[in-house]
Amino acid sequence: MTTSVPRAPSAAPASSVTTAPASAPASSVTTAPASFVTTAPMRQTLLVLGASGDLTGRLLLPGLGALLATGAVPGLRLVGSGMDAWDDERWRRRVADSFATVGADGAGESEVIRASRYVRADVTSEEGLRRLLAGCTGPLVIFFALPPMVAARAAAMLARIGVPPGTRLMLEKPFGVDRISAHSLNNLLATLVPEEQVHRIDHFLGKSTVLNLLGLRFANRIIEPVLNSAHVACVDIVFDETLGLEGRAGYYDGAGALIDMVQSHMLQVLALLAMDPPPSVSAQELRGRTAQVLRAARLWDDDPVAASRRARYTAGEIDGRRLPNYADEPGVDPARGTETLAEIVLTVDTWRWAGVPFRLRSGKAMSAVRKEAIITFKQPERVPDGLTGYERPDRLRIGFGPDCLGLDLNINGPGNPFDLDRVRLTADFGPGELPAYGEVLRGAFEADPTLSVRGDVAEECWRIVEPVLAAWRADEVPLGEYPAGSGGPVDSLLGPVPE
Ligand code: BG6
Repeated sequence: MTTSVPRAPSAAPASSVTTAPASAPASSVTTAPASFVTTAPMRQTLLVLGASGDLTGRLLLPGLGALLATGAVPGLRLVGSGMDAWDDERWRRRVADSFATVGADGAGESEVIRASRYVRADVTSEEGLRRLLAGCTGPLVIFFALPPMVAARAAAMLARIGVPPGTRLMLEKPFGVDRISAHSLNNLLATLVPEEQVHRIDHFLGKSTVLNLLGLRFANRIIEPVLNSAHVACVDIVFDETLGLEGRAGYYDGAGALIDMVQSHMLQVLALLAMDPPPSVSAQELRGRTAQVLRAARLWDDDPVAASRRARYTAGEIDGRRLPNYADEPGVDPARGTETLAEIVLTVDTWRWAGVPFRLRSGKAMSAVRKEAIITFKQPERVPDGLTGYERPDRLRIGFGPDCLGLDLNINGPGNPFDLDRVRLTADFGPGELPAYGEVLRGAFEADPTLSVRGDVAEECWRIVEPVLAAWRADEVPLGEYPAGSGGPVDSLLGPVPE
């Protein structure tokens, strides 16, 4: 009788091997999924509502400039609209200044600037919107760089007058102000354009490392099998910034860290870390998997009081920069009790993840920038007697700025082979090809919704944090304080930063 001998797997056929050489610098490898390669419609118009606002100047226009500099969206027409009494010249200066910050000064970009127009209009009025739309030609992308309530009113007015076929709508976060308003806004938008043409923006989905989680997880045999409750002790997703309010009281004081960061960006990261393997990276599959995992997410023990923390910064110094009390910042209403740091602990109630805490935290005015997800593994069931120095668990660290990957292991050091050392294997990815806003804009211009949040997912994100918002409103969780430039409140649910 012949027995078959298990063989080492043969080399992968050429077709399954990536064409980028292993030694290519990360920056030379495009991070966009293959589905981006679609035929872009020609001579599109981007209509920016809220063109004189902060978001447009700080993020949207630099993202657009970087995208145009790649040669994408040839012949784009750019129209800005706002309530401010600007003229074309003033608007073109803003566009040019923003493009300059990303070195977008080629002939194509200059032509876009030269031909761009500014229309002063109240976008919540029928007359204002009709006038705006009448001045736009070709396939249209409308970017709502507006606060959520104004965006909802503008969308309601658009629903009355209608938009040209094929129009794509880009809506900034937060999408609605709670679950119910997000639901109504979804219903309203559904009367305007099909769901695939609504691009609810979460610019974290445009960050290269965030989407790279898919490759890391699903194209590496040694990673995916251990990402479950049998092997993982906890998952931390942290986004600590040294920046304070930076003059954004008008928006931020009404939002706070939970809505600004956790309810949106960090839940999207959680979804990519915890989703089951999709059969493809198509928009439909990825958004379906995202919805699945977020539907299973809820607060740890369903207890918003034990599973959340909130705090705001008091005066302090960061890198030689003096920050006042958050409550004394211009434009802040201290009575609102807005938090500048939020923490929540979630469970993802599935076979794969039940029992694993997902701890999410974001804070402003912290002592150090810390933007990472850390997967902490359980200790081995049994370590041979005589081995020492393995007390710390293995950790996989995914950095979102700087973009990097680290794996902390206990391995034999150069000395005594039975006394283990801690070693970190690291890889630096370098920045993505485009800034995150460039990536999300590209998605809208190419009519590809992969990087946008699906309507039901936006509602699900509100559902997850709703009990926390209610407990905070009822003052069941005290509003703590931490000095600007410190490591945050002492009663953090995450504990000290793991070494
Ligand atoms: C924004 C938040 O969405 O994301 C800001 O409103 C935050 O408060 C920012 O600072 C962080 O994103 P990035 O891309 O600057 O790391």
